[in-house]
Amino acid sequence: MSQTGPVLSNGDAEDFVPPYPFRHEVAPPVWTLIGLAKKNFLSIWTTSDFQGRLRSLKVFCRELVLCNRPDVVRQAFQTNHIALQRKSPQMRHALEPLLGDGLFVSDGETWMKRRKLVAPIIHGSRVPGFAPTMIGTIEEKCAEWASRPNGSEVDVLAEMAHLTAEIISRTIFGRQLGKDYAGEVVRGFTEYQKHIDQVDLLAIFGLPDWLPRFRSKALKQANARILEVLDEIIDSYHARKDAGEVSVIGGLLEARDEDGNPLSREAIRNEAAVIFMAGHETTANTLAWTWFLLSQSPRVLNKLHAEIDATLGDRTPTFKDIASLPYARAVLEETLRLYPPVPILAREATQDTLISNKKIRKGSLVLVVPWLMHRNPVLWDLPDTFWPERFLQDSMKPNKYGYVPFSIGPRICPGLQFGMTESILSLVMLARQFDLRLKPGTEVQPVCRLTLRPGETLPMILQPAAGQG
Ligand code: HEM
Repeated sequence: MSQTGPVLSNGDAEDFVPPYPFRHEVAPPVWTLIGLAKKNFLSIWTTSDFQGRLRSLKVFCRELVLCNRPDVVRQAFQTNHIALQRKSPQMRHALEPLLGDGLFVSDGETWMKRRKLVAPIIHGSRVPGFAPTMIGTIEEKCAEWASRPNGSEVDVLAEMAHLTAEIISRTIFGRQLGKDYAGEVVRGFTEYQKHIDQVDLLAIFGLPDWLPRFRSKALKQANARILEVLDEIIDSYHARKDAGEVSVIGGLLEARDEDGNPLSREAIRNEAAVIFMAGHETTANTLAWTWFLLSQSPRVLNKLHAEIDATLGDRTPTFKDIASLPYARAVLEETLRLYPPVPILAREATQDTLISNKKIRKGSLVLVVPWLMHRNPVLWDLPDTFWPERFLQDSMKPNKYGYVPFSIGPRICPGLQFGMTESILSLVMLARQFDLRLKPGTEVQPVCRLTLRPGETLPMILQPAAGQG
């Protein structure tokens, strides 16, 4: 970390450039790249990959097309949605045991039908109604942390995963589940990510989708446990409904398609798995990264505290306060720029198409890589610097196709408002009461397996915030 640091164009002195993996000057040989990708997808890129616009390369039998500017991202994910809506074989094979034909990995007819059913369950218009449950769950986390001795060590990555899984569990699946299902799912998903094969070599070599992929015993066990939990939740729905509980997941169980047919049992479980997985892990990683960034940037932390004090005083926030917390939002938006939880959005072309007059052949992989585009020096001033203020100035607001932590086009994350709302509420409620310092000696590096995480754990030291002791 430099002592003086750059002086940003709005006059803020900032010295914090958070960690990122080594960038190659020249691309290593393909086999080296595959080895690197298996460990961490973020360590394969060259400096010029960050600056490019539209680039293609051949990896064995696959054509790879990299879209790295708003105009080409728009063509790929919006204009060419029909041809480029299918997820990459790597993503489909990695998640298929868990999500089956669920929304996140499906395409075509199935995707369209399921999107119509699932998106309304988590839609932004429902978020004000979810907010009291979010706030209650965060208050419980505050109470739990307050009961720990001053200076306790917490694994912030696991803590945030439990918090967001508990929020999704209570808002969507019901408040009276009774067991620690959220905890079981978090543990299961962490194991699942650990054992998933990162690079689908069969697909790279052009071998067909139906060839079975190797899956370890540990992966199968983690998968089975998550599915068991989801089955228990679904099974208990009718009993809980009869006992007066209103739960949003009922929308899925009682949904009918255009012909009046209910979803199959398997489809319900797949969509429940999608909502649980997509709905907790991404938000948890965002919050964990935010705590890390704040711990390294006292200037930003002080400004955040000033906004919280001015807006809330001692009051518990409500949904309405969110509009009056622009700095908290900007801190999260900047975190999502630097560490997008889904750092690679990969699609497989299902037909020949064109991007910027370049022919894309059926079977090509088209990649929008937020990790690269969010740090493209052509699009961003000081691209590697943590500087939330950039999101507060209208003149610097990013093009919507150039800033895509929630993806863009018809497959945009339907949980965007949900995720931002729970993140802002969690940030302000926890930051007001607690100060989190990185455990001395901890080295943080971003690692991408299915999602981008600050390593396996994020050990931090918990203290009361100034004025709370
Ligand atoms: C900070 C939080 C979040 C981030 C950064 C995020 C990001 C994303 C991204 C990038 C995708 C598209 C992936 C791709 O195209 O390969 C996606 C899809 C999805 N997300 Fe989120 N998400 C977040 C929170 C949530 C929440 C809270 C929910 C549910 C309550 C949710 C539900 C979904 C679903 C169902 C999809 C699949 C949509 C489709 O394929 O049509 N997400 N999310």
